[in-house]
Amino acid sequence: MFISFEGIEGCGKTTQVEHLSKSLLQRGIPHVVTREPGGTRLGKLIRQMLLDPSHEEMEPLTELFLYAADRAQHTVQVIRPALEAGQWVICDRFADATTVYQGYGRGQDLTLIQQLNQWATRGLWPQLSLLLDCPVEIGLDRARSRIVEKRLSGREDRFERQAYAFHQQVREGYLDLAKQNPERIKILDATLEPDRLHELVVNLLEPYLAGEGRQGNNEWVSRRS
Ligand code: TMP
Repeated sequence: MFISFEGIEGCGKTTQVEHLSKSLLQRGIPHVVTREPGGTRLGKLIRQMLLDPSHEEMEPLTELFLYAADRAQHTVQVIRPALEAGQWVICDRFADATTVYQGYGRGQDLTLIQQLNQWATRGLWPQLSLLLDCPVEIGLDRARSRIVEKRLSGREDRFERQAYAFHQQVREGYLDLAKQNPERIKILDATLEPDRLHELVVNLLEPYLAGEGRQGNNEWVSRRS
């Protein structure tokens, strides 16, 4: 099972990924928690390059290719092997993020992005993508303490520096994508309390959770293994 979490800055993805990982552990479901950019050793280097605020000269196309490069490495090195070993993969952002940040946000060609995503993932897409949606004001407000702290120390990243309008385009992009892919992308109300939101995540996953888990003797079982 391959699940991605998506949403604007401050939507609470990382907290939900952690909650889900704990629930999977309790149920004895083997899984890998990973993220983009930065889910591999090379990816961490790419992440630094992408987020470093001193890289003001970075061309939008360079940025797009770097996200694709990170994804190509991550898919082959981490995601596919984990799925083949019968593990669940929980990914904090995946290819949809490129469509909305580089496409809707930066105005890069959506057809090119679609093709790049297809190449980088070799056609491997999450079975379920959970879009934690909230108004930009709420997301940025939540992220503000983190952002202000970073700004004061000069460590605010290139995306945190973007204007409100950019984040609004990103949010709208995600909502558009969800409309276009209603089977795969499920919208969740990220203004809810984290515990309530986690309950909704687990409810959505219930059909996939049934039948998975540990059997006697600490033996891991999976429907796909
Ligand atoms: P994170 O803070 O969720 O780890 O993501 C780092 C930043 O990278 C975030 O501002 C969103 C951005 N991003 C893109 O612009 N395109 C992408 O394809 C991905 C995965 C992330």
